[in-house]
Amino acid sequence: MATLIQLSDLHFGPLHNSHLDEIILQDIAALDPDVVVVSGDFTMRARYAEFEQARDFLSRINKPTLAIPGNHDQPILRLADWIERFAHQYSRYQKHIHTDIDSMLVVPGWFIVGLNDNHPIAPGGFWSVKQRTWIQDQMVCAPDECVKVVVTHHQLSWGGKWRPAGFWYPTRALDLLARNGVELVLNGHTHVPLAEQTAQGIVIARAGTATSGRLRHGNSNSYNFIWADSKQISVFVRRYYEKTDTFVSDRAFTFPRRNNRP
Ligand SMILES: [Fe+2]
Ligand SMILES: [Fe+2]
Repeated sequence: MATLIQLSDLHFGPLHNSHLDEIILQDIAALDPDVVVVSGDFTMRARYAEFEQARDFLSRINKPTLAIPGNHDQPILRLADWIERFAHQYSRYQKHIHTDIDSMLVVPGWFIVGLNDNHPIAPGGFWSVKQRTWIQDQMVCAPDECVKVVVTHHQLSWGGKWRPAGFWYPTRALDLLARNGVELVLNGHTHVPLAEQTAQGIVIARAGTATSGRLRHGNSNSYNFIWADSKQISVFVRRYYEKTDTFVSDRAFTFPRRNNRP
């Protein structure tokens, strides 16, 4: 069985709860996943001090880790940061978190591609032609025994309503992923955890905010613990309960794998 922990929207800076950092690090040690994925929004305002705190947190995760930037990890749109926003959009992220904006990671059981989906002006939620080609080039290299995973920040599912800051063309993106054998998509951004299976058979796991006080729609802090075997993928939403001061798996979703193997 392959296991994965998905953290998202850590938002180091104002409203960050550093006490939860410690509990999450203990949980990672106890749950012992094969890999940890962080699906963007490391900071609140992309300040250097916030990135330094995020980097220090990441350095304490003793597991293979894949990260992508979120929309909050770009310098904010103010005059002092204007040039950097357009000319070196991810220089702070690259200095502190990872040198590559798009990256991939292979660990036993998982083949993971992380894709930046932000834009300096437009709301995020799309990949360039170059990125779409890159996904395909990466996915053909995946070993048969691995679950193919794509990590992106904005949500790929928004129920057919007017785009609420999610992907601009979700069906087109999901069709591309399905053609390339992707079985699991991880995203964050909304601070609302969710797990579902799309018409293409792709499992989408959205993580809430793990450590920020920017909570949405009555959700507490949470992260996802995910496991996969040859037949199914299960997503456990682990929510924080103040009373016990622990994260607890209180919702579980199980889906058949679209590339189900005998
Ligand atoms: Fe966020
Ligand atoms: Fe975001």
